[in-house]
Amino acid sequence: MSVMPPKKSKWNSCLKPIGVIVGVVLGPMLLWEFFSGRVDDTFHPVTELPSTHRIRAEDWGDLALEGGYPGTGWVLLPEVHDEPHYQSTVLPESRGFLPAAACRECHESKYASFITTAHASTSAEPSLETILASFQAPRNLLQTADPDFWFTMDHTADGYFQQLNIRKNSRAYLHRRSIDLVLGSGNHGQSYLSWEGDRLYQMHVSYLTELDQWVNSPGMYYDGTADFSRPVPVRCLECHATWFAEARNAVNRFDRHHYLLGVTCVRCHGPGLEHVEYHREFPSASVAHRITNPSTLSQDRLNELCAQCHSAGEPIAPAFTYLPGEPLSHYLELDLAADDANNADPHSANQLARLMKSQCYIKGENLTCITCHDPHADQRGQLADFSRKCLKCHTQEACGESNISGSTKETRCIDCHMPARRDQQVKVETKLGAVTALLRDHKIGVWPLVSEQILNGLQEPHQNLQSVPNPASQEAE
Ligand code: HEC
Ligand code: HEC
Ligand code: HEC
Ligand code: HEC
Ligand code: HEC
Ligand code: HEC
Ligand code: HEC
Repeated sequence: MSVMPPKKSKWNSCLKPIGVIVGVVLGPMLLWEFFSGRVDDTFHPVTELPSTHRIRAEDWGDLALEGGYPGTGWVLLPEVHDEPHYQSTVLPESRGFLPAAACRECHESKYASFITTAHASTSAEPSLETILASFQAPRNLLQTADPDFWFTMDHTADGYFQQLNIRKNSRAYLHRRSIDLVLGSGNHGQSYLSWEGDRLYQMHVSYLTELDQWVNSPGMYYDGTADFSRPVPVRCLECHATWFAEARNAVNRFDRHHYLLGVTCVRCHGPGLEHVEYHREFPSASVAHRITNPSTLSQDRLNELCAQCHSAGEPIAPAFTYLPGEPLSHYLELDLAADDANNADPHSANQLARLMKSQCYIKGENLTCITCHDPHADQRGQLADFSRKCLKCHTQEACGESNISGSTKETRCIDCHMPARRDQQVKVETKLGAVTALLRDHKIGVWPLVSEQILNGLQEPHQNLQSVPNPASQEAE
């Protein structure tokens, strides 16, 4: 008797309902018994298996990057440390970093629309609202190609969990880790982070929105292995959160109690404490005090404000020190050459470098990210609105494509000239094969194959952008 689903071969349609009942009813009972110690010989910790290894955060990089990554069936867990939790003496407020809520009293409408954006929700505490993946059986399962190796996700009064299950020599092994932070708004997917002491690790199981499923995390998380030992470097949090305090002596030690989640106002407007205090003291002052309005910045400084997170590059200054309006080159060696369509470290589609390759940027005047994007609004999917931005500089007639015209053409500029494409850098392994992320190309150009597909699709009611050929393959010029 076990909580595990029967082997695949036996999983036929008549056993299925029984299996589900066994899983749903007996599963939690047995788990409860296990944790209350009553049938402690039923489950064993995975640490009893010889294929399980504890990895030091400092060693993970060598292991993964130098080809030492173990094969199927292996389990990597973080080293356990008994050091006292790191407490930073520098708190976000002391650097003027305030949460978005601090701006609300005077900027209510900006606040209200901002909190609907992907920036606002790109990191969050776990909850049934913030975790988009399902905890309902059978959808709470990640089955690997090995029928004896799978993950189940569940939540209890104590939190949200990923559980690794292994069956070996008719014994059952398991390992549970709690989901402590959620990364990603879910436009594309979410990854989950877990604390071991004050060290932060990425979890093996992520969520892919396109499949609406739990999946192996993207990038070097192999199907049929379990890796809970990958340290989360501060750079990951620098792009996905407003503030974290990092201990100097480790790659992934942070102050667990003082951080600001979401990419919020102060990351684009600079520290806001003095601004808030001033305007509270002088409520009738109508000229803004001590805050950056990015629309007053030069083209380069404004694009760099976004490029601190939307580009590839080598950091050359401590995290969370860049301030809007400063030259980004003092903080990050931007890699504008790394601009082929399938780039870029880490998984951002390198929007600035791609945009800078466009004639619109080279010959146009003052083209910036905010020519098209309003950072305070959720504009996702509003492709007709985006197309109107093109008409700031172009007329419909300037377009040489004569097979469509009028309003159909006007709402479709984006589809043909900034196609979405599969980014080979963001790859998820599934038991059925690899899935890559669909990201918008910011090199505005003429892609004849794409245009052809769009034109063909216009005749069919539900044309699917996902089948558009990769413009990278057309980049012969
Ligand atoms: C106590 C009221 C108050 C609070 C709180 C407040 N602001 Fe302001 N803010 C103002 C006033 C007044 C202005 C000037 C009038 C205007 O532009 O709306 C202003 C203007 C601004 C501007 C435009 C600056 C310019 O030069 O045009 C930005 C950007 C801004 N605030 C950001 C923020 C951010 C970010 C926060 C939260 C960290 C914040 N504000 C909190 C009162 C406040
Ligand atoms: C501190 C890092 C950071 C800064 C600064 C930043 N972004 Fe982002 N941005 C992100 C991250 C992370 C995401 C992915 C959010 C998600 O979906 O989880 C994102 C997502 C986006 C998206 C996609 C939103 C959607 O729903 O489709 C746009 C557009 C965008 N950013 C534009 C900008 C622009 C324009 C600027 C500059 C004014 C900027 N960003 C500044 C980190 C940043
Ligand atoms: C240099 C900045 C940067 C770093 C470092 C970074 N990210 Fe991202 N991440 C982004 C941006 C920007 C996006 C949005 C994708 C895009 O459109 O370019 C994103 C998207 C994501 C998404 C998908 C969110 C969505 O849109 O649904 C996840 C999940 C994610 N990142 C996790 C991570 C994790 C985990 C790490 C660290 C191990 C990390 N990222 C490091 C900038 C960064
Ligand atoms: C991703 C970067 C980003 C974030 C996050 C962001 N802003 Fe802005 N904000 C900008 C940019 C760029 C401009 C100038 C362009 C514009 O006006 O849209 C701006 C302009 C403003 C202005 C002055 C212009 C106006 O329309 O009144 C205010 C006030 C403001 N933001 C407040 C906020 C507040 C409050 C928050 C958080 C609730 C916030 N912003 C979050 C980038 C950002
Ligand atoms: C800031 C003004 C500006 C904006 C906004 C703009 N463009 Fe352009 N674009 C230009 C200029 C200038 C050129 C160069 C024209 C020339 O060489 O005669 C250009 C060139 C082009 C080309 C020719 C590209 C090539 O490689 O030959 C296309 C296609 C194009 N734009 C489409 C668009 C689309 C679609 C949008 C909206 C997503 C857009 N542009 C937004 C200014 C702009
Ligand atoms: C000429 C218009 C234009 C400019 C300029 C522009 N973008 Fe975009 N961007 C778009 C469009 C259109 C989309 C697709 C939106 C959608 O699919 O909902 C997009 C999507 C994005 C996304 C989401 C990518 C994805 O597929 O999830 C990010 C991130 C982003 N832009 C960042 C930037 C940054 C950073 C800059 C400045 C370097 C910038 N954009 C400049 C038009 C533009
Ligand atoms: C169905 C796909 C499609 C749509 C929709 C579309 N275009 Fe085009 N566009 C093309 C193709 C293909 C070309 C190249 C035509 C040629 O030169 O033979 C082109 C050429 C262009 C050029 C470059 C002209 C030149 O030779 O320098 C510009 C600018 C342009 N389009 C802008 C736009 C704008 C703005 C919109 C929206 C109002 C738009 N396009 C909508 C497919 C499209």
